[in-house]
Amino acid sequence: MQSIGLFYGSTNGATAQVAQMIQGEFESTLGTKVELFDIAEFYLESMMDFDDLILGVSTWNIGQLQKDWEAVFEEFDTLDLTGKTIALFGLGDQIGYPDTFLDALFFIADKARERGAHLIGSWPVAGYQFDQSWAVEDGRFIGLALDEDNQRDLTGARVAAWVEQVAMAFGAKDRLGN
Ligand SMILES: Cc1cc2nc3c(=O)[nH]c(=O)nc-3n(C[C@H](O)[C@H](O)[C@H](O)COP(=O)(O)O)c2cc1C
Repeated sequence: MQSIGLFYGSTNGATAQVAQMIQGEFESTLGTKVELFDIAEFYLESMMDFDDLILGVSTWNIGQLQKDWEAVFEEFDTLDLTGKTIALFGLGDQIGYPDTFLDALFFIADKARERGAHLIGSWPVAGYQFDQSWAVEDGRFIGLALDEDNQRDLTGARVAAWVEQVAMAFGAKDRLGN
């Protein structure tokens, strides 16, 4: 598999840590290289170098985008993501913010689709406690749902299972040649 670009925004470092965990999982179990881009330091334009992308975002301030994503959101509108396959992961706090759990994941998903990307990597809602989330579509989260505030002990296993699923979806697409 070709290398994957992982772009993330992280205010207190939790999403950054998970980005490294995902990178390590891909490299150790599949030998697939994942390049990390903290969007506070890189232009989103760098996404153009990859066919397969992973985007990571945390939700802040009661259902808002993480601040670095907010800062580049207009730049997002200039990207043509046609032909790109994108998997998403989001961090949130389901106990503290049960009515806006992982909402920012939806904003990123919506924008990525609008720019032409094909999304993969949805995730079951079982095992989480929340009341409302924009990130749920057809009974599943649009991407991997993580809660480092309340379920840190589950993150490793969730990442491992999701990486396996996402790698298969990236790989299947490569074999089909689209
Ligand atoms: C002031 C504040 C507001 C937050 N708002 C939300 C929210 O609306 N929904 C949610 O799921 N998580 C919310 N969170 C939780 C963060 O998303 C969570 O702590 C996350 O791990 C932070 O990741 P980061 O350090 O990578 O930015 C909030 C946290 C804080 C401190």
